[in-house]
Amino acid sequence: MSADAGGGRVRVRPARTSDVRAIRALTAPLAEQRVLVAKEAVAYYEGLPELVVAELDGAVVGCGALHVFWEDLAEVRTLAVSTQARGVGVGGLVLAELLRRARELGVARVFCLTFETRFFAAHGFEEIEGTPVAPEVFAELLRSHDDGVAEFLDLARVKPNTLGNSRMIHYLEESARALDAARAGALGPAAHPGSA
Ligand SMILES: CC(C)(COP(=O)(O)OP(=O)(O)OC[C@H]1O[C@@H](n2cnc3c(N)ncnc32)[C@H](O)[C@@H]1OP(=O)(O)O)[C@@H](O)C(=O)NCCC(=O)NCCS
Repeated sequence: MSADAGGGRVRVRPARTSDVRAIRALTAPLAEQRVLVAKEAVAYYEGLPELVVAELDGAVVGCGALHVFWEDLAEVRTLAVSTQARGVGVGGLVLAELLRRARELGVARVFCLTFETRFFAAHGFEEIEGTPVAPEVFAELLRSHDDGVAEFLDLARVKPNTLGNSRMIHYLEESARALDAARAGALGPAAHPGSA
């Protein structure tokens, strides 16, 4: 995907191994501030197929990843734009590519945990409470070792990472929104097992 932004040409493309250094340079300060989940270098290599980067005039200025949680659910993570390149549409282009991937993979809902509520709302995300999955899916997700899954489940061990963040979801399919509304209505507080 290519577009004009910030007086230059932005290209969003799948990440390559040679981009990991640049991705780490973008994400390390944000991980230190607990805006993004801190990860070892090996995790970026392992997660490479999930990652895209944005190049502005050939330099990597942004990145983002889509991590699939379950049949109908994925998460936008590792979304970052260099401070110098912010506010000209790079982040929006990266997010649009991740949502395109989500559709292509057949995902119905995309979750994110963020301080950037205005940005995500402008791209169709809405704030939610709790953990919108059926109890049996919640139990399956508990088996994951991934910190992002733990944050989605709102587990006590990751609470320090999630403090002050908003939980947001983007419905790619209206049927998924209806299902979440019905689940919340039918189960009440039990729909949010992680927040107990
Ligand atoms: C969130 C983040 C990725 C957004 O990146 P970005 O490149 O600045 O995003 P955009 O430029 O597409 O949009 C940002 C704002 O600039 C505005 N904008 C977009 N294009 C613009 C342009 N051509 N001229 C002026 N403003 C523009 C948008 O309207 C948007 O405004 P909003 O704050 O009201 O939503 C970036 O702020 C960041 O790296 N934050 C820290 C990491 C983080 O919190 N990540 C999310 C958790 S996964």
